[in-house]
Amino acid sequence: MTETAHLESDTREAERPSDEFPIVVEGLSNVFGEHVIHDNLSLKVRKGEILGVVGGSGTGKSVLMRSIIGLQQPASGEITVLGHRMGDSTDEEDIDLRSRWGVLFQGGALFSTLTVGENVEVPLKQFYPEIDDTLRSEIARFKVRLAGLAEESAFKYPNELSGGMKKRAGLARALALDPELLFLDEPTAGLDPIGAAAFDDLTRELADTLGLTVFLITHDLDTLHAICDRVAVLADKQVIAVGTIPELLALDHPWIQEYFNGPRGRAALCAKEDVAMKHDAPVAQDGSAPGASSMNTTTESGA
Ligand SMILES: Nc1ncnc2c1ncn2[C@@H]1O[C@H](COP(=O)(O)OP(=O)(O)O)[C@@H](O)[C@H]1O
Ligand SMILES: [Mg+2]
Repeated sequence: MTETAHLESDTREAERPSDEFPIVVEGLSNVFGEHVIHDNLSLKVRKGEILGVVGGSGTGKSVLMRSIIGLQQPASGEITVLGHRMGDSTDEEDIDLRSRWGVLFQGGALFSTLTVGENVEVPLKQFYPEIDDTLRSEIARFKVRLAGLAEESAFKYPNELSGGMKKRAGLARALALDPELLFLDEPTAGLDPIGAAAFDDLTRELADTLGLTVFLITHDLDTLHAICDRVAVLADKQVIAVGTIPELLALDHPWIQEYFNGPRGRAALCAKEDVAMKHDAPVAQDGSAPGASSMNTTTESGA
């Protein structure tokens, strides 16, 4: 498959005005030496969605994210973010634009010599130097709480935090400037399943309450099922398909089938159905869900 599969959700896109797509990538190519990473890649991210971005290791997910936020100069192609064409804005527009997104890089990338609160203050200092010290540290502590950490965490150093707490600290920093767009590069990698699920819930909640558009690179099938509105699949140097998981499953691309329909993909789907059934199950007066045990049996035997 060389062209993006035309799914139902794509057809509807044609009718939408362009301000409904805060991120538009058209004909993107990225080349390192003789290594072609992207070749004529196109992708549109809808306003307010959590878009999951998947693809084999080394397919260029992080490079795509870096291109969108202007850290990677593409060989060719056009990238428009929040209505601004990347690469030809003035310095001032550039600064304005960079204050409208937040990024959690793969690995977190906190400054180890700064406390969590000071880490969150870095972008505040950079973009709003006029804010006084007291207010700035107050804003930082608020962001720390927003990311689901106790306020005391603001005074800790990264090496005093667990993996999950580091991710939340990175998220707090990404939220420092009240961004419209949030870029997350493999945020749940390295977390245990409970920590990963909690981070997913937080991402969904923040996206909904703050009205964020989220570009979420992930390997985590549970994350895709739990919180992503649509999923973009990177393969063969392009985005070969974008759609909901059921829409993607209807395609017969071998990587997509292997990924979503392989043993891990099916286990993730069962886990999601199990959660959905528990939510939907009528609750008796004593609080127990009638038939819950038989549903569990079904799920276990089906997994
Ligand atoms: N700055 C760079 N210079 C040269 N090669 C790079 C650079 N950044 C990434 N690459 C290569 O581009 C490919 C895609 O990388 P990346 O986007 O990090 O993959 P992933 O999909 O795992 O995030 C890899 O082969 C990587 O080695
Ligand atoms: Mg990567």
